[in-house]
Amino acid sequence: MQTEEIDEIRSKIDLSLWKQIFGFALGHKRILTWLTVSALSISLTEALFPIPTKMAVDVIQGKATDYGLWLPSALFAVLTVSLCIGVYYFIKHAGSISYHVGHDIKRESFKRLQELEFAFYDSQPTGWLISRLTADCDRLSRIIAWGFLDIVWGTGFIIAMAIVMLILKWQLALIVLGTVPPLIVISLYFKKRLLESSREVRKENARITASYNECISGVKTTKTLGREDLNLREFEGMSQAMESASNRNATFGAVYMPIVMTIGSAGAGIVLWYGGKQTLASAIELGTLIAFINYAGSFFNPINQIASVFTEIQSAQAAGERVTGLLNTKPKIVDSETVVAKIEAHSKANSKDEKLAPDGHEMEIQSIEFQEASFFYKENEPILRSFNLKVEQGQTVALVGPSGGGKSTIVSILSRFYEPQNGEVLINGLDYRQRSLEWLQSQLGIVLQTPHLFSGTIRENIRYGNLAASDQDIEQAATIVNAHSFISNLENGYDTQIGEGGAKLSTGEKQLVSFARALIADPQVFIMDEATSSIDTEAEQLIQKGLQKVFDGRISFVIAHRLSTIRSADVILVIKGGEIEEQGDHESLMEKRGYYHKLYTTQFKRERVETVLNSSSN
Ligand SMILES: Nc1ncnc2c1ncn2[C@@H]1O[C@H](COP(=O)(O)OP(=O)(O)OP(=O)(O)O)[C@@H](O)[C@H]1O
Ligand SMILES: [Mg+2]
Repeated sequence: MQTEEIDEIRSKIDLSLWKQIFGFALGHKRILTWLTVSALSISLTEALFPIPTKMAVDVIQGKATDYGLWLPSALFAVLTVSLCIGVYYFIKHAGSISYHVGHDIKRESFKRLQELEFAFYDSQPTGWLISRLTADCDRLSRIIAWGFLDIVWGTGFIIAMAIVMLILKWQLALIVLGTVPPLIVISLYFKKRLLESSREVRKENARITASYNECISGVKTTKTLGREDLNLREFEGMSQAMESASNRNATFGAVYMPIVMTIGSAGAGIVLWYGGKQTLASAIELGTLIAFINYAGSFFNPINQIASVFTEIQSAQAAGERVTGLLNTKPKIVDSETVVAKIEAHSKANSKDEKLAPDGHEMEIQSIEFQEASFFYKENEPILRSFNLKVEQGQTVALVGPSGGGKSTIVSILSRFYEPQNGEVLINGLDYRQRSLEWLQSQLGIVLQTPHLFSGTIRENIRYGNLAASDQDIEQAATIVNAHSFISNLENGYDTQIGEGGAKLSTGEKQLVSFARALIADPQVFIMDEATSSIDTEAEQLIQKGLQKVFDGRISFVIAHRLSTIRSADVILVIKGGEIEEQGDHESLMEKRGYYHKLYTTQFKRERVETVLNSSSN
């Protein structure tokens, strides 16, 4: 069961991190300006609200002679309309910026995830990464939009009230403003405590849910082990922890409000006492006194909101670290500056020569060579040691050998998903790091051991290989790899939806589709990590005929488990412990009586018998 993950709260706010995240909002200056303007206009309007009351009291008392009651009433109406307009715009723009920022962060992260090399994914569980990332992006975009709004509105409100009060009567203003620092300190303290204790409650709750789940799914075992009493005692213990966490949370909430109310009231009380005396002495108007009492009670709300934003920022810091961590990870396998310059020069030259790749070098791949290539995933655990191999155009190489020997690693290095730490991979004699990465990878047709298809129809999936392919091309490719018959038998043929990740197809069928997808791209290099047992013998014979057509004129690397593929290869390599243990064609390797001979006599003989039985039963 997945329990809720709760990030720790960082006590220090990392400014550079939030600056980077806020940078996403700066990309939408127009909305941000509107948001700021509407937040400031609301704070100013709210700060002015006690003024019409003061004016009305002054009129009633006969203290204001140059205007009637109509003026405060009209002012009240104007302020109300202005507040409504302000609120309309701030909600609209906050929602809009939240959406845009969320979208931008997600797009950048997505882009980065696609640029990063395979090695990055080796150290990160992908599912977790994606789900966390979506949740993190949403959370950050909310904080940026609403947090920004609250801070602008809150500080604007406090400053506007302070100015209005100072203009009205600075002595009273100082009394009211004296309550602001303790309100800030207390709000920040309690907000943090409340956040911590409510997390504690959620954590305990998650533990109880997990224990429920375990108890129910393991009910038989519990009974046979006589664990009922023990389980119950454990449950009691957790309930108690939950109760004390809930109590703590409730206590903090209960104490916080009376304290801030007392501070606000104390301010209002002193104003009442001091201001009252001033009023009696006719030093100030009654209207002014009433306005100040109103102000004294108005500071709690903005301070409380700002404190909430700060605690939210602290609690979302871990999410921010994850997102910026990803955004700031530089892909390690990229085109070097020289290659980038060459690609630019070539595109400027506007050459129409189809024999040239975008990097200005030859398009046609005549040979691929591993030269003294060494590679490790983890330091001190070498997988390839000074690996040497040269393959010419038209040749098919079959890689066989025990599991974990390094076969998939070799083709991953060839595809430049990883680069060798020592030695080189040469394309037409030139180190592949001097060629365009995108060009190289676009020349590869890859069928993986566990093929990945995208949700959509079969037709769409094959078309991914070459977006310009016509329906006819698609069917032709499917026919060559012998996928056409199984596809035609499906209810909607090529338009069958295959579900997420191709869930509705068997592994063998998925391989056939990805085979067609690789073929339609017309790659110069064909790489296939054969599925071990997912295609039945009959289908295999069909594929074999298709394969031969695919191999023609290309360089092919096949990690082969099936005799038919291996026998037709030009070179068979037995890969063991990251080295070539045996190399040659079928006959010469059989003569050698080594690993290949053993493999052949045990595994492949059985396969042959099956094939014979199969064809005689048809
Ligand atoms: N991403 C990775 N990170 C760390 N180690 C890895 C990684 N991929 C493979 N290895 C290790 O490298 C070695 C070679 O693995 P590789 O996948 O190349 O073998 P293989 O010959 O293709 O095996 P199989 O026949 O089972 O597919 C193994 O010891 C494996 O555990
Ligand atoms: Mg493998």
